[in-house]
Amino acid sequence: MSLDLTSVIRTIPDYPKPGIMFRDVTTLMGHPEAFSQAIADLTAAYNSHGVEKVAGMEARGFIFGAPVAERLTAGFVPIRKKGKLPYKVSSETYQLEYGEDVLEMHLDAVEPGDKVLIVDDLIATGGTAEAAIKLLEKAGAEIIAAAFVIDLPDLGGADRIRSMGIDVSSLVS
Ligand code: PRP
Ligand code: ADE
Repeated sequence: MSLDLTSVIRTIPDYPKPGIMFRDVTTLMGHPEAFSQAIADLTAAYNSHGVEKVAGMEARGFIFGAPVAERLTAGFVPIRKKGKLPYKVSSETYQLEYGEDVLEMHLDAVEPGDKVLIVDDLIATGGTAEAAIKLLEKAGAEIIAAAFVIDLPDLGGADRIRSMGIDVSSLVS
């Protein structure tokens, strides 16, 4: 029997700024069946795609991306906020629904031709995913798809990423 994941995602109005409806995924993470179902569903869709690396964006993308990588017998690539990675990095600045930030990836995190699945908890404007795609494409990765637990379709991110030629999937909208 599968759970309705929307029932375990909490909404906080006006966080972190007035007008933002913040979809709080910590309640899903803290629910054993829901967390397990989300990881299983994210993994199932990409079992037969030859994924070699899963790239997850700091911080919530690490929580979903790492277990998916392990289940796909793939490596995990952390895409981090500025200044957190110790080796040589490639950087991309991007806009968020509530600000601007910089994402970085180690230069040797992927090899040209590596088949990479991007995983994050949520896509809103798609700025974060677009920055991750740019970092991976600069490194020569082949992006298999970008998979999210939550899509906020009114913010247009999934369409933005599809218009870059990348397959996008989400568990709930
Ligand atoms: C959130 C979320 C996604 C991103 C989606 O991360 O986890 O990574 O925003 O928004 P976008 O589609 O408009 O780019 P956030 O930058 O808040 O960082 P956090 O995971 O460290 O909280
Ligand atoms: N990241 C960007 N927009 C968000 C939202 N509305 N809720 C949770 N995380 C987000």
